Amino acid sequence: MASTTTVTVVMNEEMGTISPRLHGHFAEHLGRCVYDGLWVGLDSPVPNEGGWRRDAIAALKAMTVPMLRWPGGCFADSYHWRDGIGPTSRRPRTLAESCGERVVETNAVGTHEFLDLCRLIGAEPYLAGNVGSGTVQELADWVQYCNGAADTTLVRERVANGHVDPMKVRLWGIGNENWGCGGNYDAEIYAHDFRRYETFVRQTDPFVETVACGFDPKWNRVLIETLKANNKLGGMNHLSLHRYWNAGPAVGFSEEEYYHLHRGGELVEGDIIAAKQLIHEATGGRHRVGIALDEWGVWHPDANVTSQFEAVSTQRDAVATTGVFDTLHRHAADVSMANIAQIVNVLHAPLQTRGGALWMTPTGHVFALYAPHQGGQSLRLDFQNVPIRPLSALTHLNWATPTEPLRDLPLVTASASRNLVGGLVVSLTNRHHADPLAVILRFAGGEAPQGMGRMGTLAADSLDAANNAEDPHRVAVKWREIEIRSSSGVTLTLPPASVQTLHLG
Ligand code: AHR
Repeated sequence: MASTTTVTVVMNEEMGTISPRLHGHFAEHLGRCVYDGLWVGLDSPVPNEGGWRRDAIAALKAMTVPMLRWPGGCFADSYHWRDGIGPTSRRPRTLAESCGERVVETNAVGTHEFLDLCRLIGAEPYLAGNVGSGTVQELADWVQYCNGAADTTLVRERVANGHVDPMKVRLWGIGNENWGCGGNYDAEIYAHDFRRYETFVRQTDPFVETVACGFDPKWNRVLIETLKANNKLGGMNHLSLHRYWNAGPAVGFSEEEYYHLHRGGELVEGDIIAAKQLIHEATGGRHRVGIALDEWGVWHPDANVTSQFEAVSTQRDAVATTGVFDTLHRHAADVSMANIAQIVNVLHAPLQTRGGALWMTPTGHVFALYAPHQGGQSLRLDFQNVPIRPLSALTHLNWATPTEPLRDLPLVTASASRNLVGGLVVSLTNRHHADPLAVILRFAGGEAPQGMGRMGTLAADSLDAANNAEDPHRVAVKWREIEIRSSSGVTLTLPPASVQTLHLG
């Protein structure tokens, strides 16, 4: 008989603060993410607050969105911020291109509207600057327009447009995927351009945090070494990484494809470890460069330009999400932010809409279940007797083919954190496609929580179960009380393909 799986929370081994920014989001002018997703406009019959749909605001607040990156993505490197300020009727209609989608951009959503959305949902704004088709002056002006306090023409213009106080935008992306859609740079030339942009952006506002465009280890090494050789490593506060992956179609996947999708966490971990080594070699640990997982998520082949980058979002996607969160929490000391792509409708979206209907995807429920980890101290976990699934190579995966060697997949993934008031939050996932799993949750290295707690479980009646306009609550979290009576912990039964979060102490 197989021994029981045990997960032990090591109470006295902290692995870093889980910055709320690790649970960030990304909204690009792409498909129906912004227009017709979040934004319906002032004249829409859909109830809205200054053009932003009310049901989306409520759902995002319930999910706790700490940070939002905008306006791209590839869109960022063809976006000119001045097109999106001033009276809407006078804003130009421009041609926009991102990921092969070419549309007319009305510029109805610009800087002020985006800042309004951030205020409405309580998110920190993160602006992605245009390097590919912009200029240093244009980006420095955007920083001054947003953050300036001096009595300049740009600041007067911001005030005239309705925003009296400085917007205090801290996070500025210096381009996006500049190795590709953001200008087809090579790493060394990008590094030199980064130096110029960073110099004038920081001269405009010394409190900004810059995000440099990273890519694969080869690009990252050249970028880091070039900055270091020019004494400019300190100008890079964050190094961005993007990670997308898939395994067969969004629905109608095989059992093997079901499991392959759960490799996302391991792929992200490989990216983090490689970037961390490079940063450590270059800085000797003397200067902090945060690893920014600027965009991450499942990108199903079905989510392409024809479908406006949308796909059915299933319980399988939700289970694949937790592997990434758990990885981020384990590396909380080194990762400074992470943004799921994208916040509404596009790709691995937590929310989807159709007309006046809006629903939370199973992935959205995972975000809500994990939100209590935000700001907590990540605690180390010990795993014993975790069942594994040997994987066989899938040769038909498309561009997102994983680069990590194929390893057996652990069927349990988990996170634990201690929040500011001493409460314990534990999340546990059973990845098995069909079998429930008994797990003993134990505590070591400190006083075990005792007494009553609560456990929320996200499970579904099938692996490809999804929510939609007709059945928005088919996959939902069920809460129940649990009691820990003994210091040796508690035995839990995790349904197949399920995610749970426990609140203890
Ligand atoms: O999220 C969709 C696209 O993926 C973004 O525009 C780009 O940065 C990445 O390739």
